[in-house]
Amino acid sequence: MLTQDAMLRQLKNDLSEHRFNHTLGVVDTAVMLAEIHHADLEICRIAALLHDCAKSMDVQQMLSIISRYSIKLFPGEAEYPALLHAPAGAALAQEKYNVADERIIRAIRYHTLGPDDMNLDEAIVFVADFIEPRRRYFEGLDYARFLAKEDIFGAVKECKRLTREYCVKTGQVPLNF
Ligand SMILES: [Fe+2]
Ligand SMILES: [Fe+2]
Repeated sequence: MLTQDAMLRQLKNDLSEHRFNHTLGVVDTAVMLAEIHHADLEICRIAALLHDCAKSMDVQQMLSIISRYSIKLFPGEAEYPALLHAPAGAALAQEKYNVADERIIRAIRYHTLGPDDMNLDEAIVFVADFIEPRRRYFEGLDYARFLAKEDIFGAVKECKRLTREYCVKTGQVPLNF
């Protein structure tokens, strides 16, 4: 596995400035939540660092790496290009960052959909992505931030509820998870 410094250099090169800064916010938030909830700090930190590593790939590149690494898509997931950077990122973490730890790979893979059977590390990365300090404010964000510290799995449910609500408001069909 690359060192975290090398990962940071690669991400700075691959991601937009906005996405790179978001990533730093997710790392800080994931580490804070991992301390509160006694999760694995290193797993949460590295998964947060790499969670959006595939964000600059185009759809064809994403589909190609997903299939090369035999990552199974959830029903309907392929129809949402904005979601594909999660499975693609799980593959890219292995290919480009030499990550072999399944716990890191799974946390990256699940960070967009947040399936109900996530473990603690996965829940932390999912919620950290949602509530990181640079997120543009939206209604419900403060409560999600509060809940993240008190009840991380409750926060997962709340983040998913807010996402569904946002999809409905903006006329998109939410994937049911
Ligand atoms: Fe993402
Ligand atoms: Fe993200």
